Amino acid sequence: MRHTQTPVIEEAFGAGNVRWLDVGLTPQTAPLAAGCNATCLFVNDRADAETIDALADLGVRFIAMRCAGFDRVDLDACARRGVAVTRVPAYSPYAIAEHAIAMMLALNRQLMKGHARVVQGNYSLSGLVGFDMHGKTVGIVGTGKIGRCTAKILLGMGCEVLAYDVFQSKEAIAMGVKYVDTVQELLPRCQIVSLHCPLTDDTYHLMDDATFNLMRKGSMLVNTSRGGLVDTAALARALDAQKIACVAMDVYEHEAGLFFEDKSEETDATPGSSLSPDWDLSLGSLASRPNVLVTSHQAFLTAEALGNIASTTVENLREFAGGGGAGEGGGYVNEVIGH
Ligand code: NAI
Repeated sequence: MRHTQTPVIEEAFGAGNVRWLDVGLTPQTAPLAAGCNATCLFVNDRADAETIDALADLGVRFIAMRCAGFDRVDLDACARRGVAVTRVPAYSPYAIAEHAIAMMLALNRQLMKGHARVVQGNYSLSGLVGFDMHGKTVGIVGTGKIGRCTAKILLGMGCEVLAYDVFQSKEAIAMGVKYVDTVQELLPRCQIVSLHCPLTDDTYHLMDDATFNLMRKGSMLVNTSRGGLVDTAALARALDAQKIACVAMDVYEHEAGLFFEDKSEETDATPGSSLSPDWDLSLGSLASRPNVLVTSHQAFLTAEALGNIASTTVENLREFAGGGGAGEGGGYVNEVIGH
């Protein structure tokens, strides 16, 4: 990621004016921003009130998120401390939608199992039966930019697309998406449910024991949105009880500090094959199931998306540097989500 975005940002501001830090933002790492007016954060950086206070005490006045989601930024704390925040609301909805579809198909057609067999010289097809996507009903929760792209691909495959959103999109309806009034109404009607709404107080643990119980037996859940939408313990229970058949997740409730990091070499202090306390056993146990497909928040990771993120972030930073950050959203090329 850094290789794609570094040149764009350094060319815009001069290499000497940009400090690259290979650590996630926490209250403990915030002092590394000393001397900076702006910080540029990614999706799992921690920007809670304590961290915002630490940054603001150092004179940081601007946070440029290099992502769309801002659920880890305490906007009230930013407002209180006069820290403006921008994000990149749309950089490539196709990237995430296509990843969601890739995960759906990989699970349905058991591609991981099929490939592993061939590598081992096992060319048997037993147990690899999938289903035609054509004619199946897929539920989309959240028909914003990514949800609509996902719906369009699914409609092209001959699926029926049902959707739930707090706002109905005319574009989605024109495409052929049919809305229902509640998530509770959506879940029992779909073979596949794909989540594309943001993580908010209202959507936290949208999928819990009660909502998993509403899903069709043998159905699939796909989550490329935010980990907190799904209660991980309830998901494990739904899989154990074979309430749902399988799950694809690009995001995980407790991914902060894990995803984007290489933990594979970490052990505790005991010599030999020991396990670091950092290993997430709940994720490990989920990911080891043959009916669970996990990627570590890589849905956005296309060359096009990275290029768009870098150039929009540069525009956001330029607006801030040009004094556009103080007014009522004035001067920003992007939506101001808190100031
Ligand atoms: P968007 O803002 O265009 O669409 C979000 C939609 O969710 C809107 O239509 C909104 O009305 C709807 N929504 C809000 N609250 C809802 C609720 N309670 N129930 C149902 N629908 C609700 O956002 P976009 O660009 O489509 O992104 C969706 C989400 O995808 C982001 O919030 C982010 O969490 C996630 N994302 C994941 C990425 C990844 O790499 N895995 C990358 C980018 C975004």
